[in-house]
Amino acid sequence: MKRIKIVDIFREAPLGQTVSVMGWVRTRRGNKNVQFVALNDGSTVRNLQIVFDLNEFNEEQLKAVTTGSAIHVDGVLVESMGKGQSFEVQAKSLEVFGTADPAEYPLQKKGHTLEFLREKAHLRPRTATFGAILRIRSTLAFAIHKFFQERGFFYLNTPLITASDCEGAGAMFQVTTLPLDKLPLTEDGAVDYSKDFFGKPTALTVSGQLEGELGATALGAIYTFGPTFRAENSNTPRHLSEFWMIEPEVSFFDITDNMQLAEDFVKFCIGYALDNCRDDIEFLAEHFDKELVERLEFVLHNEFVRLSYTEGIEILRNSGRKFEFPVEWGVDLQSEHERYLVEEHFRKPVILTDYPRDIKAFYMKQNDDGRTVRAMDVLFPKIGEIIGGSEREADYDKLMARIEEMGIPMKDMWWYLDTRRFGTVPHSGFGLGFERLVLFVTGMTNIRDVIPFPRTPNNAEF
Ligand code: 4AD
Ligand code: MG
Repeated sequence: MKRIKIVDIFREAPLGQTVSVMGWVRTRRGNKNVQFVALNDGSTVRNLQIVFDLNEFNEEQLKAVTTGSAIHVDGVLVESMGKGQSFEVQAKSLEVFGTADPAEYPLQKKGHTLEFLREKAHLRPRTATFGAILRIRSTLAFAIHKFFQERGFFYLNTPLITASDCEGAGAMFQVTTLPLDKLPLTEDGAVDYSKDFFGKPTALTVSGQLEGELGATALGAIYTFGPTFRAENSNTPRHLSEFWMIEPEVSFFDITDNMQLAEDFVKFCIGYALDNCRDDIEFLAEHFDKELVERLEFVLHNEFVRLSYTEGIEILRNSGRKFEFPVEWGVDLQSEHERYLVEEHFRKPVILTDYPRDIKAFYMKQNDDGRTVRAMDVLFPKIGEIIGGSEREADYDKLMARIEEMGIPMKDMWWYLDTRRFGTVPHSGFGLGFERLVLFVTGMTNIRDVIPFPRTPNNAEF
């Protein structure tokens, strides 16, 4: 008999029919006459109740049916008399695929803390919570492709191994095949990278943007969606060493077009998740964050506030609030500042623009005031910065001047500069941190809980 997924049982409710279900046992309980198993197969947050009549099955047969074991049951789907579910399967046959020794299985009990589950990252997808998070993550990934594909953007795959540092932050993971215990040296004692695999120093990318700009100035509108790597030693609930980023880049787009795209984009993703992951979102709301659905709908139905960095600084300075990091024009905003603007002052998502040039990357379009650039950060409740982007400096001479001023090695940049030498156009783009979006949509508070296998300082076990 063909297996039916539990999600389809709930969708189609084929009452009276014999069904074949396979999954992992969440719990087993009951008495001398009847045993109830809650079965989950990962297709939905909901468990299917299986009823074993002990006239037809004996305790010996059911002994292997413990929390975590994998089973196959054929039986008839009937209406349930019990509370908590509308139907159940009356088991006719049982096959045990794999046992899970109760003395050993780490997820034996319910209600483990998220911290405990991080230590069991290899098994946590089997919990209801992580099942919900991972299904939402998958749906959001699909929504992202759908949004861009339906608007004529092309998906561009940019390299993960690169010789240039896009953000200029200098926190990259080096990629090398040189023997670390016996490095080849040049005559003056430096590492001889001409002997390395690519004949030069390389690293894992921090952003696909620079190559994205090559795509956008050819195809018009592209987006990337791939992993990025940052070797900052920042142990916060919002930073990963390996995270996924979506980076659209569009020709003939100015900063205002860019802001509108960013707003439409995140709203589309949130709306798509609400429409397609309702069960999972409601499960997470019930267990972790009572205001989750309300917050998602609020963002969906309200316009983002747009203001300049300079105006933002004024508001922070006049707030009467004592921040851990003092505020003055020129400082990079900390999470506490971003969240004050979003959660307390405006109570809406905020797009801040025109940041001081000295705290932003070299490629941003320079404003005429000589001290700000056409940057835009989208700030979200509970998250802080969820998107960073800008209009790009399209003028060759101005870009060159900035590169020289910042001391960026030109030999790494020649190919990028060719976009400004040949058919340069106004263009803009941004990067959305995928995990920050998943954090927002799931209501989770630690970024380690929204990626299947988190990479953070001192943590690459699973
Ligand atoms: O602001 P960032 O550094 O911008 C860029 O990388 C640009 N090249 C993007 C562009 O214009 N194409 O990063 C973009 C976003 C941030 O707003 C944040 O959401 C996320 O990426 N992000 C991280 N997410 C998780 N862990 C980290 N360590 C992150 N660093 C940035
Ligand atoms: Mg940023």
